[in-house]
Amino acid sequence: MLPFFFLSKQLPDALIPTIPGPEMPLACLTDFRALAQERLPKSTWDFIEGGADDSFTRDDNIAAFKRKLFVAEHRIRLRPRYLKNVVNVDTRTTIQGEEITAPICISPTGFHCLVWPDGEMSTARAAQAAGVCYITSTFATCALEDIAATAPRGLRWFQLYVHPDRQLSKQLVQRVESLGFKALVITVDVPKLGNRRHDIRNQLDLKLNLLLKDFYWLKERTSMPYFQMSPIDSSICWNDLSWLQSITRLPIILKGILTKEDAELAVKHNIHGIIVSNHGGRQLDDVLASIDALAEVVAAVKGKMEVYLDGGIRTGNDVLKALALGAKCVFLGRPILWGLAYKGEDGVKELLNIIKNEFHTSMALTGCQSVAEISQDMIQFSRL
Ligand code: FNR
Repeated sequence: MLPFFFLSKQLPDALIPTIPGPEMPLACLTDFRALAQERLPKSTWDFIEGGADDSFTRDDNIAAFKRKLFVAEHRIRLRPRYLKNVVNVDTRTTIQGEEITAPICISPTGFHCLVWPDGEMSTARAAQAAGVCYITSTFATCALEDIAATAPRGLRWFQLYVHPDRQLSKQLVQRVESLGFKALVITVDVPKLGNRRHDIRNQLDLKLNLLLKDFYWLKERTSMPYFQMSPIDSSICWNDLSWLQSITRLPIILKGILTKEDAELAVKHNIHGIIVSNHGGRQLDDVLASIDALAEVVAAVKGKMEVYLDGGIRTGNDVLKALALGAKCVFLGRPILWGLAYKGEDGVKELLNIIKNEFHTSMALTGCQSVAEISQDMIQFSRL
């Protein structure tokens, strides 16, 4: 079934993707980026690609994988070990006790129907086929019931922006729990939306263009007001986490932690996991690149919870570096939208397959048979 707004007159023709086949096979994630840019309308491309303010952190997320923490003249390099029999390299691991085929999963991003007609449903099917976790955003443009039904065996977590009306949030949490989502991801870095200059210049108004079906669902069945784009509760504090813990049995993961102080508070509040993230550089500009913040957070939690990372992951070597620095798993944001814009479900499958193969090669060429063998010894900080 087509998403509601796809049937409405609001959708400009330019938003309907065309699918010319590429002349050459796609070989890496940035190949998908070029194709997505070619296919999407400018305002959609800018919405996906944009960072906050000068986009310094967005760009640093990627550049930082090539250099040492904090010190621009140093580079993060790999230390390969050879003669270790890598006939059978096993990329499988677990997150929150659930097995995934590789430590490469899907970050929450909103509005997938902007880039492909059945949006999040395609993403969910691709994630299920690849055997990885898909974190569905609060701003999904397909109904959560449809997402769950289209990929019933897929591992899904739900990302929650807490609404000022706690009852609405409670209903949503109970609904995702009953739909089989396995964890609740609370995004903490959006007490207010960052300054997205491209969106201001393009006069992008997601509220007008997109009707969020999930919140219509709430309205239809409960007579609640629409759950709209802007109401994210900016009053939410550490103490409110106990309220969330009281309304769900799901493990709670905090997304957007960048400091040891907040990591220690997360431990104190019995949180189950942290995603080290700066929202792909879309919130506060000039913060640390995610990979630069990882070691501090990993050290602060002292093994008491799993730590994950997103931001700037583009290659199998990036995945290996993040794991060597203590991440249990990484998540992809923009690349998934590039795959979706290229060829929907098949595009996301192809993209995941490429980065999983790259990671397999990275493991083999550094002498790792299993993910558990990846350690900090595999990283070297060398001078430029
Ligand atoms: C996001 N991100 C995001 N995060 C979140 O918690 N909820 C959301 O709804 C969204 N929506 C969203 C839309 C778009 C278009 C982008 C690009 C990003 C942030 C996302 O989860 C993730 O943190 C970053 O995208 C990771 O960085 P990379 O992989 O894009 O470099």
